[in-house]
Formats: sequence, structure tokens, C-alpha cells
Amino acid sequence: MSRTESLEPQARPATVISASAASVAPFLAMEILEAAQELERRGADIAHLEVGEPDFDMPAAVKEAVDRAARQGHTHYTHSLGVRELREAIAARYARRYGLEVDPGRVIVTSGSSGGLALVMALLLDPGDEVLIPDPGYACYPNFVRMFHGRPRPFRLDPRSGFACEPAAVRAAVGPRSRLLVVNSPANPTAAVQTLDTLRELAGLGIPVLSDEIYHGLEYGPRAASLLEVTGECFVIDGFSKRWAMTGLRLGWLVAPERFVPPLQRLQQNLFICASSVAQQAGIAAIERCEEDARAMVEEYRRRREVLVSGLKRLGFPIPADPMGAYYVLAGARHLGRDSLALAKRILFEARVGVTPGIDFGAEAEGHLRFSFASRLDRIEEGLRRLGSWLGQAP
Ligand SMILES: Cc1ncc(COP(=O)(O)O)c(C=O)c1O
Repeated sequence: MSRTESLEPQARPATVISASAASVAPFLAMEILEAAQELERRGADIAHLEVGEPDFDMPAAVKEAVDRAARQGHTHYTHSLGVRELREAIAARYARRYGLEVDPGRVIVTSGSSGGLALVMALLLDPGDEVLIPDPGYACYPNFVRMFHGRPRPFRLDPRSGFACEPAAVRAAVGPRSRLLVVNSPANPTAAVQTLDTLRELAGLGIPVLSDEIYHGLEYGPRAASLLEVTGECFVIDGFSKRWAMTGLRLGWLVAPERFVPPLQRLQQNLFICASSVAQQAGIAAIERCEEDARAMVEEYRRRREVLVSGLKRLGFPIPADPMGAYYVLAGARHLGRDSLALAKRILFEARVGVTPGIDFGAEAEGHLRFSFASRLDRIEEGLRRLGSWLGQAP
């Protein structure tokens, strides 16, 4: 087909959306949340255990930085790669936390870690390329892949091994069109933390690896290893949403091998121009002044985790692996129903507790429910009490 023909305006009716847009599945957690909000509008009280974002206010120093940034006129476009001071602060944090030397020139400040995901997919995927993604895994991964005309190729995480990412299972899923492997540790929704050895083996498979490290810092055992500790030949995304409770500021970063920075910069210039200028000033404050706030939040999550995990176990939910990071518990629920979406809706409407259906996270997570301990302790206790009455037993 010639170039003029492909641009033919009457080629298809304007109302038809692209196949890639049509292939994007709905985010069922949002469906539950929206149904919960509708119940709340009608006066119901809902215990929200479905939420995927911290309930904490952002740290005081971050708030001040937002105010100051607005007053000082940090409200224009910045350099597409991000302001130098923030890129240097991010690089310095790798030195402090992981003992790693990361050149600030390899750091690209993005619109949330989601922005980094989009950039890497746009950089690497040609139509039909496969991206190996964990199952269970973050609900948006397959949709990002499809939006960039790729094909998601799930590999199984085994609950019996605590959802460890088995390099052999990944290797078995590799095919001639495999273009990228996505790893996520600590993970959503399994809360599993992968070992340094696992990351090393995955990096050795010969496929570019994207490591989603957005939950780093939220750990309840050993510190999660960064893929950058294994190799510089990888893509790492991280951000401010979870650790510093800054979800609404939409700020993240991507570390990429140096030779990919120029093409990533071109993509960033065209897709996003730059990350939010105000948020970037807030990001500097978060890194330089809010490690203590982040630590205090982790201690609170740890208390909530104890209560939620022991409460769910008492209620008879099998928990294949205690959460080692993030703020989720992926619990078995087949004893209550095989269809996790139908079950989550019943729990919402009958027990007034919001939970996320496992099916949102892939076929392997069907028959599970994801409970979040990002909500306040008293709301977690209330949720457990309601679940207990609903199940006809005391929590
Ligand atoms: C595993 C994972 N990656 C990435 C994101 C996106 O986070 P953000 O764009 O806010 O940085 C989320 C959000 O829930 C997530 O759970």
C-alpha cells in the first residue's frame, strides 16, 4: 500500500477505534472502586481493602516544596529529561541505598513510573513483538504491551514457591519474537521480593529486561535488590508514588543504558514533553528530606500487615506467601467461589468491603482476592470484622 493510500481519510468510519485500543482490558479494580463509591454516595459505609495507593498524606516537606515551586514560578516546561538537580538526587540515592554509581545522564524523569513503562515499550516494540510478563502481575502490563502493538506473553509465578520468579519458567516462555522481559519486585499483587540471584539469572537470559522497582523501600524483610546491582544493561523504572505517598503528583524515573537515552529523549519530547515541573521540585525535597517520613510509613504498613495477614488467616483464607513488600496480600478464595469478580462484587454489596478480584492480575490469579493494607488500621480491622460476620464466624 502506498503512503497516500494509507493516509486515505475515508479508509474507515471515524467512530471505529484502533484494534490496539479495543484490546485494552478494563481495570476491574476500578470497577469495584466505582461501585463502592456509588454505594457511598447512597450513604453506605465501605471498608476499602481494594485500594492500591497509600492513604498517607504526602510528607510535610513535599507539601512545602509544592507551594514554594508554585510561588517561585516552577510552572513551565523543564528539560525533557528532567531538571538536573533531581536527576543528580536520584543518582545519589542509588549510591546511598544500593552502593551503586549511576550516571545522572542515564536518569530520565518521567510522568509516574507509568511514563517510564510507556517510554520503554515505545522504544523497543515492533508490531507482533512479545513481552514476557509475570502472571500474576500488575494489571496494566499487558495493556501497555498491546497499546504499543506488542503481544503479552505471560509466564507463571508459582504460589508454592512464594511466587518466586523461576528463571526456568521464564526461559520456557521465550520465543523468537521475545523482545522484553518485565520483572517486578516487590510485586503487585503477590508482594513477593525476588533474590539478587534470581535477578542475575533473569538478566542472563539474553533478552532486554525492564525491572519495575516502584515498591522498593516498602519491604518487611531483606531490602529488595535492584537489577542495576546486577547489570547496567537494563531498564529500571521507579518513582515517588508509593514510597513517599505522592501518587497524585505523577512523578517517576527511568534509568536506561546510555546509548538509549537519546531515542528515549525523543520519545519523551513527543509523548510527554517533560514531567510536571512543580512535581520535580517536590521530588527533590522527597529524596533529600523525607527518608525519615518514608521509614515511618513503612513501620505503619508493617503493623497493618500483621493485622491483615493474621486476620485473613483466621478467617480461613489461604495465603500462599506472606507479603514481603508492597502493601498487598494475595489470598486464595476458591473455597468461596471460582469467579473472583463475582465474589468481589458479592463481598462489596453484601459485606460492604472493597476487595480486588484476582482475575485482574492474570489467569493464574483467578480464584484469589487481593487485599490491600494501604488503608488505615481501624478500617482494616473493620473490614476483617465485616468479612467475619459475612462468613458467619467471628474474626
Ligand atoms: C507494579 C506497578 N507498577 C507501576 C505502577 C504505576 O505507578 P505510578 O505511575 O504511579 O508510578 C503501579 C501502580 O499501582 C504498580 O502497582
